[in-house]
Amino acid sequence: MPGTCVIGLQWGDEAKGKLVDLLTVDYDIVVRYQGGANAGHTVVIGDDVYKLHHIPSGILNSNVTNVVGPGVVLNPPTILDEIDSLSERGIGVLENLMISDRAHVVFPWHLLEDKVINDRPVDGESIGTTLRGIGPCYRDKVGRSHAIRLGDMYRPDFRQKVESIIAAKRTFLAQANGDSELDGDEIHSEFAGYAERLRPFVGDTTHFLLDAIEANQRMLFEGAQGALLDIDHGTFPFVTSSNSSGVGVSAGSGIPSRWIKKVIGVCKAYTSRVGGGPFPTELDDDMGQLIRDLGHEYGTTTGRPRRCGWFDAVSVRYTSRLSGIDCLSVMMMDVLSQLPEVKICVGYMLHGKQIDYFPSHVDDLRQVKPVYETIPGWQQDVTAARTMEDLPEGAHRYLARLSELVGKPVEVVSVGPDREQTIFASDAVASSGSGGD
Ligand code: IMP
Repeated sequence: MPGTCVIGLQWGDEAKGKLVDLLTVDYDIVVRYQGGANAGHTVVIGDDVYKLHHIPSGILNSNVTNVVGPGVVLNPPTILDEIDSLSERGIGVLENLMISDRAHVVFPWHLLEDKVINDRPVDGESIGTTLRGIGPCYRDKVGRSHAIRLGDMYRPDFRQKVESIIAAKRTFLAQANGDSELDGDEIHSEFAGYAERLRPFVGDTTHFLLDAIEANQRMLFEGAQGALLDIDHGTFPFVTSSNSSGVGVSAGSGIPSRWIKKVIGVCKAYTSRVGGGPFPTELDDDMGQLIRDLGHEYGTTTGRPRRCGWFDAVSVRYTSRLSGIDCLSVMMMDVLSQLPEVKICVGYMLHGKQIDYFPSHVDDLRQVKPVYETIPGWQQDVTAARTMEDLPEGAHRYLARLSELVGKPVEVVSVGPDREQTIFASDAVASSGSGGD
């Protein structure tokens, strides 16, 4: 079974990092293949909290090689900070981190452009990006003429490239009333310094991964963001700029889909979203605030309060099918424990009719009204549960209904942030549940 993927099924922040960290004991290589420093993965081990943006969550297991693939947009100072902070905490990075020379680099002009884009509403609402330059960097990648890949930073014409791109960017930014102060010399020397520091990690990861998978090495693909933010299949234009659903794994990593044998879909027991765009089950009331507080729903990357709402089985069934998942991993079950009743969205009302599909156009999605099913809460602390039998009857009922509506078995349940607070309902996902080094 060489390839397994972990994919977020909602709008990101589904606690994928925790699951990846737990699963790494069964894999040789962990691969990040899309997104960039917009992602934020938190892994909690005892009293230690690790916040990672770029480096795959497998880095906490010293036996695993971690790969940042070609589909990622790389922010050099961010990844260098992560490397430094892991090294200071005694976590070896040099031996087990590899970054693709094909990955595109986020430059200061991308950050300035992101601000300009974000200040301009799209469809009457700001996208609310993470301001990490992600959209502008991917746009330049597709446009090609203003793009710089990591491998380009080691070539003699790097300085010339920076100068010519800056000339174009200054014009664009000035026209857009943005900050157009860009100093070519300064940027070149700063990024040449980053390139030197990154040199030991940079290589042809596509080649490396193809060799590894053909040699039957076990690979875990770590998706960033969630499938509803997918550039092609998500709630466009309120999406990120990469394929964050299961369809992005091959393009972003270079590994053909024929090698991917298992897909684990990760969702919260409720829903959250950060940034703009429609969110049918959003709770704009005290219940929404309660879930936000109980779930500590504030962004890892930006600190923004996340919008919270009930579980939406229509959207998760859609993203589960899109990503080809085999099973569900339901996270943050403990957050709902206090509630007297919980709701699940089982359909939408659109133009007076009940529908069971996820509309493709954002205007329709804005208009849908959720149809809810109400389930009595379990009102019992579940944070100490370690097996399915430890969970109260109400929690079982809730999980069984989610599974039935999505059409896939629940194989993992998370009942708290710590590694140990995880229930593996079967051996199908991990051979050693609360493992890790
Ligand atoms: P961008 O990826 O920074 O361009 O942001 C586009 C949209 O995706 C915004 O609504 C962001 O809030 C959202 N987004 C990007 N990355 C994440 C993430 O890791 N978790 C949750 N939302 C994200």
